[in-house]
Amino acid sequence: MKKNRAMDEIKKHQYSVLLCFFFILSHFCLQFKPVSAQTSAVFACDTATNPSLKSFPFCDVSLGVSARVNDLVKRLTLQEKITMLVNTAGTVSRLGIPKYEWWSEALHGISYTGPGVKFNNIVPHATSFPQPILTSASFNETLFETIGKVVSTEGRAMYNVGQAGLTYWSPNVNIYRDPRWGRGQETAGEDPTLSSKYGVAYVKGLQQRDDGKKDMLKVASCCKHYTAYDIDDWKGIQRYNFNAKVTQQDLDDTFNPPFKSCVLDGNVASVMCSYNQVNGKPTCGDYDLLAGVIRGQWKLNGYIVTDCDSLNEMYWAQHYTKTPEETAALSLNAGLDLNCGSWLGKYTQGAVNQGLVNESVIDRAVSNNFATLMRLGFFDGNPKNQIYGNLGPKDVCTEDHQELAREAARQGIVLLKNTAGSLPLSPKSIKSLAVIGPNANLAYTMVGSYEGSPCKYTTPLDGLGASVSTVYQQGCDIACATAQVDNAKKVAAAADAVVLVMGSDQTIERESKDRFNITLPGQQSLLVTEVASVSKGPVILVIMSGGGMDVKFAVDNPKVTSILWVGFPGEAGGAALADVVFGYYNPSGRLPMTWYPQSYVDKVDMTNMNMRADPKTGFPGRSYRFYKGPTVFNFGDGLSYTQYKHHLVKAPKFVSIPLEEGHACRSTKCKSIDAVNEQGCNNLGFDIHLKVQNVGKMRGSHTVLLFTSPPSVHNAPQKHLLDFQKIHLTPQSEGVVKFNLDVCKHLSVVDEVGNRKVALGLHVLHIGDLKHSLTLRI
Ligand SMILES: *[C@@H]1O[C@H](CO)[C@@H](O)[C@H](O)[C@H]1NC(C)=O
Ligand SMILES: *[C@@H]1O[C@H](CO)[C@@H](O)[C@H](O)[C@H]1NC(C)=O
Ligand SMILES: *[C@@H]1O[C@H](CO)[C@@H](O)[C@H](O)[C@H]1NC(C)=O
Repeated sequence: MKKNRAMDEIKKHQYSVLLCFFFILSHFCLQFKPVSAQTSAVFACDTATNPSLKSFPFCDVSLGVSARVNDLVKRLTLQEKITMLVNTAGTVSRLGIPKYEWWSEALHGISYTGPGVKFNNIVPHATSFPQPILTSASFNETLFETIGKVVSTEGRAMYNVGQAGLTYWSPNVNIYRDPRWGRGQETAGEDPTLSSKYGVAYVKGLQQRDDGKKDMLKVASCCKHYTAYDIDDWKGIQRYNFNAKVTQQDLDDTFNPPFKSCVLDGNVASVMCSYNQVNGKPTCGDYDLLAGVIRGQWKLNGYIVTDCDSLNEMYWAQHYTKTPEETAALSLNAGLDLNCGSWLGKYTQGAVNQGLVNESVIDRAVSNNFATLMRLGFFDGNPKNQIYGNLGPKDVCTEDHQELAREAARQGIVLLKNTAGSLPLSPKSIKSLAVIGPNANLAYTMVGSYEGSPCKYTTPLDGLGASVSTVYQQGCDIACATAQVDNAKKVAAAADAVVLVMGSDQTIERESKDRFNITLPGQQSLLVTEVASVSKGPVILVIMSGGGMDVKFAVDNPKVTSILWVGFPGEAGGAALADVVFGYYNPSGRLPMTWYPQSYVDKVDMTNMNMRADPKTGFPGRSYRFYKGPTVFNFGDGLSYTQYKHHLVKAPKFVSIPLEEGHACRSTKCKSIDAVNEQGCNNLGFDIHLKVQNVGKMRGSHTVLLFTSPPSVHNAPQKHLLDFQKIHLTPQSEGVVKFNLDVCKHLSVVDEVGNRKVALGLHVLHIGDLKHSLTLRI
């Protein structure tokens, strides 16, 4: 999504400013002022005000969605339908249909990024949760869904007072393929299983209604950006015309799984296609990717939308079609339903006139859009009389919601290094705490991108200062061209302990800006090292960032006694940090992505989309699934203040797949068998039970990651995540974590041409810190 609206909209805005300038005193000007203080929801079929609408079947709540949609579409002229193909949709007054703005965002709280959301004095703020990269580090599906639920409650509350829409273009389920990507912070990390589970849970939290009506939506979610999109602007290579060259295998086992899960398991109401091309075709104009896969194979129940101005880019930046009308026709014929931007509004009529697109295709598109609005109750009359009609300003930024924002940050924070005697700090024995660094006292940095207007901020300095007396030195700004080393050393030398809050912000990594270096910016490392050298107590390095940082210098420096990663932790980030630093909360977060050394990015071309290593070219591969080289920290790393012991109580050594008489693999040796069509592996499952004991002194939540190293067939990953669970244990207590695995699903890999194959032979399961060998035979 572009932060700046479509060019046309900017022009329109300038035009209106100009008009206002000339007619400054006239009434005419008022019309062009920014719309302020709409105080009620936008909805269709307002039969209370206009009883004649009652006669329209599309307003009849007793009919099914498709009957109502068919009735509505029949009543519209082609011109009217075309106005329904863009995010700022048209008005049809004679049918009681008001203008609807499709573009609202809720990546980690209701955001003002899209024009559908406005903060004003009625609802000035909304709860700002951590950026998803930190939330995903909690590995807690309940948390993912609970956040979604709270966000949709706040969205409905804001909708009811005219400040937000019902269609949210969140979450971002792209894979964080390369540490330089500026938007990695928006994602759930580098692993397809984690990203899928994050996406599904967040979508459910947003969409599922409390009355259990399965086909109705609380708000509509959207999984974006389909697909293989993860370059924004790197050395001048831009997302708008980048051609991602992706193998079928990588597409099917890395890039597409989260989208597939969103649709099949999350029942998401929308998928957004990306700006880039995949193998030479723009995703928003690719019939196979849209009509073929999303609609055909996965059976999306909802609408497919473009990223904002994707069609402009397809034409202007990619020169993919000869005329604007061809672009419009290409995308509609490929299966697109809605255009963020104005392209389809302008060029669809021409495309029809030229015979490039049939009206039936436009009917399909608007039907998918209307069906989504029907499922939201938009055509059911006044929302005040519907399930969420009572929600309003009082339901936004509640105490509970703000506490959940703090809880989410606590659950996500990852403890990466902890020398004995360092963390947690005892607030009683710390008389003076030096708090140093560019991110120590900046509220805005904590909320990351796609932010809203948070209820209230607690910075690290505020949070730490609530428990102990602090002395603060900024040290330098984020770019840290010249660190004020001497001042920082002075306060550090006099303090009982030091917390350095370093890292990045949106000037370093963001949408439209990928990184070159993955080291701490400028002289930040120097500042850390210098401060550590004079400190007499614990030195806690806190990294606030979206992406991983090469902090090897600090890992190796014994004077840096602890390292914490806090992502962009949201509005309550400083409070959550203090909870962890003082041991009010025992950290349980795990890294959702590999932290590479700088040498990795020096060597690897960001535009190389391959996940798998290539010994011929020296390409080292990507993510813990394929990369074997040195790391600073690994996917799944994260320490606790207590210790846990694992015992495997149930795990089979052999699993046998029954094959029917005459199956080819009964006579010849097979490395793998088909996972989809094979009868033998259907419904074949097994259990893994792991006893976990908390043998330390502090209660805590423990994350158990279950990986497998499959047999080395079909260029399979060296290791990949199958599932994860979280368990809370008081000191000296124990519990059992249970995994139920499905042979077809969990012991299969994607082969070179994109087919799922069950790999026969030795699977090494990694369960917590244990390894277990399981042989799969026929
Ligand atoms: C429009 O529909 C007609 C009749 O089904 C078909 O022959 C024609 O190919 C279609 N045109 C396009 C551009 O798809
Ligand atoms: C990356 O780091 C190198 C070496 O420290 C430095 O010369 C260069 O200016 C940095 N590049 C950017 C874009 O920060
Ligand atoms: C997962 O998150 C939920 C919601 O915040 C929380 O209640 C639960 O305790 C968490 N689970 C664990 C094991 O920490």
